[in-house]
Amino acid sequence: MDITTTPAWSAALKSADTISQTTLKDLFAQDSARAETLSVEVLVGEDAMLVDFSKQNVDEHSVQCLIALAEQAGVEQKRNDMFEGVVVNGTEQQPALHTALRGPIETSVNVKGIDVMDEILRVRARVKEFAESVRAGRIVGATGKKFESVINVGIGGSDLGPTLVHEALSTVSHPAIRAHFVANIDPTEVRSALRECNPETTLVVLCSKSFSTSETLSNGRIIAQWITDAIGAKNVSKHFAVVSVFPEKAESAGLPADYEFPMWSWVGGRYSISSAVNLVNVIAFGSSAYDSMLSGMRSMDEHFMTAPLHRNAPVLMGLLNVWNRSILGRETRAMIAYSTALKSFASYVQQLEMESNGKRVTTDGNLVSMPTSPIVWGGVGTNAQHAYMQLLHQGTSIVPADFIGVATTPTHDGVAHDALVANLFAQSQALAFGNASDPHRTLPGNRPSTTLMLSSLSPRTLGALIALYEHSVFVQGCVFGINSFDQWGVELGKKLANEVSAQISTPSQSGGADASTEKLVQWYKTHRSNT
Ligand code: F6P
Repeated sequence: MDITTTPAWSAALKSADTISQTTLKDLFAQDSARAETLSVEVLVGEDAMLVDFSKQNVDEHSVQCLIALAEQAGVEQKRNDMFEGVVVNGTEQQPALHTALRGPIETSVNVKGIDVMDEILRVRARVKEFAESVRAGRIVGATGKKFESVINVGIGGSDLGPTLVHEALSTVSHPAIRAHFVANIDPTEVRSALRECNPETTLVVLCSKSFSTSETLSNGRIIAQWITDAIGAKNVSKHFAVVSVFPEKAESAGLPADYEFPMWSWVGGRYSISSAVNLVNVIAFGSSAYDSMLSGMRSMDEHFMTAPLHRNAPVLMGLLNVWNRSILGRETRAMIAYSTALKSFASYVQQLEMESNGKRVTTDGNLVSMPTSPIVWGGVGTNAQHAYMQLLHQGTSIVPADFIGVATTPTHDGVAHDALVANLFAQSQALAFGNASDPHRTLPGNRPSTTLMLSSLSPRTLGALIALYEHSVFVQGCVFGINSFDQWGVELGKKLANEVSAQISTPSQSGGADASTEKLVQWYKTHRSNT
């Protein structure tokens, strides 16, 4: 079914026409309850998250139209299917069971007749036991020394989630062990991490769902050689842990590992932070922080499953993204966290959203008939205000923004923190309401944003925040009618990189590539340092 041919879609377009005749200033003036009715508070244990959608260009009727679209798209049924382990990733014939990864003990989720929860809980317990043993010095390096550094080697979902969680939690508790993150195949990155580590006291966590990602294998081999040079090849495996669907591939890839933690083909890399992919942080912050993060994710899962659609934060967030992108044609969305702890959140959501919903074909193989994922980008406030917010206020493109803030500061610098939060609120105010002045100084206003506040930053609220965005992406995918869980668009680049590598490494090889690539290869061969 093409949703753009339905009465629900026509009604949404009509409502968008009406909205374009009005402004946020008018909408607030007409409805004194707007800030109440267009915001949702989600309880996360003893914490809370407030999501304020009232500065989006919608009225009550447009929200009703969007809810009707969600109903038309079968969001509730598809959500239930996803949680229950039905195949929702058709091109790979897989369920998408990231929610089971944080499921409570009493859940049961069947995949092809097998309850996967037993295996999930078994691996979760092993992750925690291993991490606690490393922290306590019961598991040590080959020369008997306690591990002092851990290097997470992985890219994409095997890096962005662990990095985000590490940066965020480092601001609320002190990591027990120094963590480094190596993703890029650019050897500069791994060399700079190694300069800060001692091979005798370094544990490597090699994260790769597929165990075929060239960046991760290349970096892993450089580190294995570094350990070999220091303490001998036979000792390398005691310094390596592997997290993968295929941990057994490590040995034949020249990366023997004494510690193996499985993940499963039914979890997408960008959805994998609740799995053993988070091992580096379980080691750094302990298993109770891991449990808290999982319970925060569960709080959001439960809210997504049980709140009525019009009070459901991920549903509303997803639908408003469809509204902005597919109905109002806004091409990008900014994500600005007013929290240095969340400085990598924009990058995390960028992969989550763009790799999930950057698609042009529906689940049944037809071309989509509406724009899908926006380009997601962003950074931290207040830095953003002194870099690119000018364009959001006065530029010719309308860029919806998500502002994220935290109410309680872990540093007790109350005055400075109040100023930080004041800036967040002021930016959304300036975007929404603008000001009238001479042509150069006028801010037109009527520019949309969502403000999301966490009562505090903790493993629990961080988990809930991540799950909120996961589910919002899912809701958008349902309305777009696409498969949010595959990523075929990245494969061609990987294949061509192998072909170009062969051209670069074979002295006389040329031909086969286009003229531009040929020229670039020849130029590179002439100028590279080792020729
Ligand atoms: O290239 C895209 C991708 O497959 C992402 O989806 C994934 O998160 C990343 O590469 C890393 O993959 P892996 O965990 O299999 O090494």
